[in-house]
Amino acid sequence: MEAKTIKKIGVLTSGGDAPGMNAAIRAVVRTGFYYNLEMYGIYRGYEGMIQNDIKKLDSKNITHVLERGGTFLKSARSEGFRTEGGRKKAYENLKNHGIDALVVVGGDGSLTGAHLFYQEYGIPSIGLPGTIDNDLSGTDSTIGFDTACNTAIEAIDKIRDTATSHDRLFFVEVMGRDAGFIAINAGIGSAAAAILIPENKTPIESLVEKLKSRSKAMKTSNIVIVAEGGKSGSAQEIADKVQKFLPYYDIKVTILGHLQRGGAPTSFDRLLASKLGVAAVEGLMQGKYDVMAGMINHKVVYTPIVKAIVDDKAVDEEDLRVANILST
Ligand code: F6P
Repeated sequence: MEAKTIKKIGVLTSGGDAPGMNAAIRAVVRTGFYYNLEMYGIYRGYEGMIQNDIKKLDSKNITHVLERGGTFLKSARSEGFRTEGGRKKAYENLKNHGIDALVVVGGDGSLTGAHLFYQEYGIPSIGLPGTIDNDLSGTDSTIGFDTACNTAIEAIDKIRDTATSHDRLFFVEVMGRDAGFIAINAGIGSAAAAILIPENKTPIESLVEKLKSRSKAMKTSNIVIVAEGGKSGSAQEIADKVQKFLPYYDIKVTILGHLQRGGAPTSFDRLLASKLGVAAVEGLMQGKYDVMAGMINHKVVYTPIVKAIVDDKAVDEEDLRVANILST
């Protein structure tokens, strides 16, 4: 596609916030300034685009944000942007500000919105993968995933201390919507007895057998990681079923929940967000539209948004094999 001349870029964060989003915004805005572009912050994601919550950014807006979790532009899941009327209003607001390109930082729903908007109104746009879930193709890791895994592991380590002290079995539920990436990573990293993910079905009987064989090996406490969104049910439901088979075991359930979304981004996420922020602006200037900038094998790769969101990113079979060997 022939590159259009771009003078004003709008940046927004949308969907569930993820650590590193601020670092991504900062990189996008700094890169824009480097190329003498005007930069606009669109607050509360697509909702702010519809409500005209759009402000010109200067360098003060992006001072000391890189190291902070959350997103200073705020985020939302916009129902209005799902409607034709909402998107029309959003387009009119962008035109009134003279914004001629967009950078959207978010997960699959947010990038789907960016794609639809580009199809309808042709405003050059580029997506950045911002979600703790790591469920986007076209990048090895999404912005926020590494931090969320570290947060989960830190919390599970603490649960391990009390589990060991009381010889208890803990079921720890982690986020990921319908993907098991956080569960696998946190499970291997915290020496979990078993990892249950939505991508695989684990019969309760085989989980119970595994826990029994670990008791025989004198492992008196155990941690089972359960990814939310699995067909076998929530951590509580699975714990209740297991309790029937192992009535002697003192079983507890912990749901890590939204604490996985907060906190300062790790160095990995800061670097990823910074590199992808630069790639987003440079990509737009080179005429790369309707794509997501991601990082594969340490190299920036631009993937059509339709591919990034439609292809189901498979969990790594090698990770599963490693998890299985290490938990026997
Ligand atoms: O997509 C990120 C995520 O944190 C998922 O892991 C989780 O299922 C969902 O968002 C929770 O969304 P909300 O904060 O709207 O409850």
